[in-house]
Amino acid sequence: MICKRMRVALSVTTALMSVGTLASADEMPPERSLSGLEYELIGRADIYAHGTLENYSQAPMLDAMVESGALPPVADRLPAEPIIFKTGAMVDGIGEYGGVFRHVIGGRPEGWNWMAGQHQGWGGINMAMQECLVRQGPRWQVKAEEQTGPLPNLAQSWSFNDDSTELTINLMQGVKWSDGDPFDTEDVRFWYDDNVQNENVASRMAKDSFGAGATLEVIDEYTFKFVFDSPQAETIIENLAYIQGCPGPSHILKEFHPDYADGATYEIYTNALPNDVTPAVVLGAWVPVVHRPDELVIMRRNPYYFKVDEAGNQLPYYNEMHFRLSTWGDRTAQAVAGTGDFSNMEDPGNYVEALKQSQDEASPVRANFGPRVNSWRLLLNYNVDSAENDDEKALRGLFRELDFRLALSHALDRDAIGQALARGPFAYPYIAGFATGSPYYDAGSSDYHPFDQDKANALLDGLGATDTDGNGLRNLPGGGGDIIIPAVVSASSNADIKQLEALASQLEEVGIRVQSRTQDQTTIDTTFTGGAFTALFQRDNLILPTRETCRSWPSGPSCPYFSTGEDLPFEPELEAKLAAFQSSDDAEEQAQLAKDMQAIVTQNAYTIGTVQVPAALLVNKRVKNAHPGTPVFMYEWAEDGVIRERLWTPVAEQETEVLPDTIAEY
Ligand code: GLA
Repeated sequence: MICKRMRVALSVTTALMSVGTLASADEMPPERSLSGLEYELIGRADIYAHGTLENYSQAPMLDAMVESGALPPVADRLPAEPIIFKTGAMVDGIGEYGGVFRHVIGGRPEGWNWMAGQHQGWGGINMAMQECLVRQGPRWQVKAEEQTGPLPNLAQSWSFNDDSTELTINLMQGVKWSDGDPFDTEDVRFWYDDNVQNENVASRMAKDSFGAGATLEVIDEYTFKFVFDSPQAETIIENLAYIQGCPGPSHILKEFHPDYADGATYEIYTNALPNDVTPAVVLGAWVPVVHRPDELVIMRRNPYYFKVDEAGNQLPYYNEMHFRLSTWGDRTAQAVAGTGDFSNMEDPGNYVEALKQSQDEASPVRANFGPRVNSWRLLLNYNVDSAENDDEKALRGLFRELDFRLALSHALDRDAIGQALARGPFAYPYIAGFATGSPYYDAGSSDYHPFDQDKANALLDGLGATDTDGNGLRNLPGGGGDIIIPAVVSASSNADIKQLEALASQLEEVGIRVQSRTQDQTTIDTTFTGGAFTALFQRDNLILPTRETCRSWPSGPSCPYFSTGEDLPFEPELEAKLAAFQSSDDAEEQAQLAKDMQAIVTQNAYTIGTVQVPAALLVNKRVKNAHPGTPVFMYEWAEDGVIRERLWTPVAEQETEVLPDTIAEY
């Protein structure tokens, strides 16, 4: 057995050896793109850059607060060199202050302690509160020759030492939390040492998943460095973007952390910032000030936000942001109806109707399809040791057999699954690895598994998994019970449930039963990251190997979440390829490594993919500065890619604020 901890020791030479072409493999069927996105690519610094301006101004609603002494003047609230958004990259130019941006989401805030892995309900609310060391979302607009590494954010600049084993990062100086407390290296140290590296904390960045053995050293208030045990490059810094590299308020959280507070437990720490206590302390553009469960979260502008436009106006332009707590389907329905401002239309069940309505001249919303980035897959748990009983062990043992996984994959009629989701040209088969919308996807490196029940049956027979008791279901080899796979699925996603139903009925035809177990979104997240499932069906967006890496790739001892035990035969090689990818900034070398990774995961049916579909971004027409080329997901979700802090609505068209003239009070 090769222990996962040893994998990184594999030499890069091995990693760079090509896995060869897929001469004998089946080719992917031809793909028809539906993407209608058109845009010009620009330089990084054309979007934004850190700098200073002579004068700064603020939203008029803050004037009285400064006059009364409740808030320091805007220039004192801003950092030494704020982030300046360039007018040339704004499709509608400098904005007008005020109004409400209305989101609708299907999630519910778990709590405000994102350091401990809690989410705030997704759909853009996490991202509205959190700011991260670097930023990925706007990279969709960056020209190819400037594509190396992420965009700066709280990390203003960085440099590697000569042998690329030390990465020194300079933080922005003078950024403040929404309660006025300074943001500095102590927040970063607390995030990395006391959360990421502390295995008792379910941090979003998995322990040891950020670069070989990276340790953090604080140099001064605004400078720190990561020390790696092998040379790294710009790519690894992508890990420090949303959702992994976003520090929390250490001055608040230490009071609850067992390493700092007497009598505190990790449970107390995780739940230190419950969702019913507002306002939370954030770095983001808006602060949650009201949470009415199952109804609404209201956020108000953060008067300490560290970004401005070129005229010196402190951002954001909108005073208020709403997150109506509903369903993901309702997000699209409300965007189409004009009662919500934004939707990533990603449930194919809605496509035909929503498209029809949004084509109408009078429609309040614009809809633009991008490439295929949403892919769905059945994940099998390969960890035999963590199985609870002998049957479960035997089942997971079977999952570890390549022929079993190939049988499942060949038993799927992916065209039929796609048509069950949405009639029309939307769905395209998905096996494993990168979605076709990824810049790293390569059709020629993908091993396709066409629908072939005879082949599936022969593979299963070959494993000795025959129907020994004549009840129509195959039995575990060696006289075990029926092969019944319980599969967890999100109760809140129709697209997931529908596909799992189709998949189950197709597998039943080759003698394998899949039983669906619905869970709510919050539970399913922890079920997944905790590896507490036999099988799990979900959507994922496999675009970059550096984003939420542990969901899909063997990037450390406890990754991916579905394979935390003994390695499958191909995993060490896959891990070495991934490590080589992360430590390279040579685009050609990375493209080759990505091809190799794609070949490995598809040849080995690492996941049992179903289909992948494009998504369309819906934005209300009264919202200005939403670039029509914004993809629903590329380097990050559209909520980041569209740059919400510079969106605005002309005063005459603004929605009435629920909490006018207020900010979070601590
Ligand atoms: C959920 C939604 C996505 C996107 C993300 C943002 O996953 O389904 O469309 O809004 O949240 O985190």
